[in-house]
Amino acid sequence: MKIVVKCVAVLAVLVSSYVLATDDIASRISPVGEVCMAGDPCAKAAVAAAPVAAGPRSGKEIYDGKCSLCHASGAAGAPKYADNAAWSPRIAKGKEQLYVNAINGIGGMPAKGLCSDCSDEEIQVAVDYMVSAAQ
Ligand code: HEC
Repeated sequence: MKIVVKCVAVLAVLVSSYVLATDDIASRISPVGEVCMAGDPCAKAAVAAAPVAAGPRSGKEIYDGKCSLCHASGAAGAPKYADNAAWSPRIAKGKEQLYVNAINGIGGMPAKGLCSDCSDEEIQVAVDYMVSAAQ
């Protein structure tokens, strides 16, 4: 009887060390990164952790961050901010035309004023912001 108990005890030790060892090996050989597919719980976590876009930026934010680079000083012949004389012939073209020219670029004005992450709408509100300051 004693032998049976000992055998069971030894077996238990062996099994538990085997389980521990395989757990350990599994964690050591687990991949460094995991591929998350859309819809996986891990993908959801990644999306939640990403900074939440605060929605479209205001005209002032876009102007201050991007357009003022040229339009504050009038660099490269850019119509200066709040300069009525510089803006009135441009405003006379109509806002729609100004939007198109700001988005596609015109003369020394690069497409989207070099703001590659600006949406068309953000460019439009930035144009509105500059135009209203010059009226
Ligand atoms: C690298 C310099 C530069 C930056 C940055 C820049 N502009 Fe301009 N912009 C110009 C120049 C130069 C002109 C004059 C172009 C011309 O008429 O030849 C101009 C003209 C314009 C016009 C008048 C276009 C027309 O049809 O007369 C608008 C509107 C305008 N810019 C909007 C913007 C907006 C909005 C931004 C920011 C998102 C911006 N610009 C950033 C240089 C710049």
